[in-house]
Amino acid sequence: MTLSRRRTLQLGLGAFASAGCAGMHNPGEASNDPPQNFSVSGQMQLKQRAAAKGLIYGAAGSYPSLSQNPEYAKLFAQACGILVTENELKWLALRPEPDCYDFTKSDWLAQFAQQNGLLFRGHTLAWNQANPDWLKQVSRQDAEKVLTQHISTVVKHYAGKIHSWDVVNEAIAGVLSERSDGLQTSPWLALLDKEYIDIAFRAAAAADPKALLVYNDTALDYDTPEDNRTRSAVLDLLQSLKSRNVPVQALGIQAHLEAAETRFNAKKLRQFLSEIASMGLKILITELDVSDRGLPGDIAMRDRAVAHAYEEYLSVVLDEPAVIAVLTWGISDRYTWLADFAPRSDGQPVRTLPYTDDLRPKLAWNAIARAFDGAPKRSASI
Ligand code: G3I
Repeated sequence: MTLSRRRTLQLGLGAFASAGCAGMHNPGEASNDPPQNFSVSGQMQLKQRAAAKGLIYGAAGSYPSLSQNPEYAKLFAQACGILVTENELKWLALRPEPDCYDFTKSDWLAQFAQQNGLLFRGHTLAWNQANPDWLKQVSRQDAEKVLTQHISTVVKHYAGKIHSWDVVNEAIAGVLSERSDGLQTSPWLALLDKEYIDIAFRAAAAADPKALLVYNDTALDYDTPEDNRTRSAVLDLLQSLKSRNVPVQALGIQAHLEAAETRFNAKKLRQFLSEIASMGLKILITELDVSDRGLPGDIAMRDRAVAHAYEEYLSVVLDEPAVIAVLTWGISDRYTWLADFAPRSDGQPVRTLPYTDDLRPKLAWNAIARAFDGAPKRSASI
C-alpha cells in the first residue's frame, strides 16, 4: 500500500511525535495547537461551495459502503459532485480470471452516480498493486496485447459516462526506486519497461477520446527527500510523455497527508503546481485525507490539527488555476483505509475525513469549506 510502503518511515517517526521527536510536530504543545475556530458561513454543501468557484468536489466511494448503507449513500450524494471508484475498477476486482470482466460492482457505482447527478471517475487502469495472480503468468510477448485489450474493454464500457480515468497509478517510487528515472517496480514495468505508460495512455485515448486522462501519484506534498525526489521524477516523466505526444492530460495528486508532519513547504509545492500547469496539464487532488497518527489522543486537539492540515494544504493548491477538482478518499471516518493501514498506536479510532463515523460534519469539513470559500474563481476556459 502506498502510505505504508512509501510513508512507512514518516509514519513510524510520526508515532513518536508525542514523545517529542526532533523535527516532528507535537500538537500537544500549546504553541503548535492551531488556535482557529474554523468558522464557516452559510449552509452550502462542499460540492456547492466548490462549484461556486468552478471546482469539482467529490470522494472515493465503494460498493459495500454505498450499497449497504442508505444513510451514508444519501449523505455522499448530498456532499459530492463526483464519485471515484475506491476498489471496484482495479484489476483484482474486475478481472478475477483472464477471460472474465466483472462489472457488477463498478456498474452499480456508475448508476448510483448517474441517478444522483454525480460525475463518475475511474481508478485505475495500470498499477503495481491489486492485481490478480494470473497476471504473473502473462509473457512479455503477450503483455502489450493484454494491457491494451484490458484498457480498451474497460474504457469503452464507460465511454460517454465518465469524467476521467487514473490511467496509470503510482508509476514512480522516488527514492525507493533503484532506477535513475525513479520508476516503481511493477508487473507492467517488468513486462514492458517504461513503454507501458505510453501504451496505457494511447489505449485509453483510443477507447474514449472524451475522458480526461490522468497520471496519478502519491508522495508529492512535503519538503522531504522522498517527496522532493518524487516531484522531480514526476516532472521528468510528464515532460517526457508530453514531448512524445503521449495523451496525458492531467496530474492527479493523491495528497495522503499527515497532521503530524511539519515539513510542509508552501513555496515548493506551489512552484511544482506551476510547473505542471505550464506543461498544459490540469491538476486534480485525487485522494485527499489527513492521517491523525502520531497526534495525541485528545479529540478536540486532534480535530484541530487535522483541520489545520486540510486548510493549509488546500489554500496553497487551490491558488493554482490549473487545479480543477478536489476529491477526498472517502467522506466519513466510518469508511477510511487509514483505519486499517495507519491505525493509531493508542487504539483510538482514526479521525481523518470531513464527517465523523456517525456522519456528522467535523472541523475537517469546516476546513475544506473554508478553503473552497477562499479559493479564486476559475475562469470558464479552465
Ligand atoms: O473485500 C475484501 C474482503 O472480502 C475481505 O474480507 C477483507 C479482508 O482483508 O479484504 C477485503 O479487501 C480489501 C479491500 O481494500 C476492500 O476493503 C483488501 O484486503 C484491501 O487490500 C483493500 O485495500 C484498498 C487498497 O487501496 C488496496 O487496493 C483500500 O480499500 C483502498 O482505499 C486503497 O486505495 C489506494 C488507492 O487505490 C491508490 N492510492 C493509495 C490508496 C490508499 O492506500
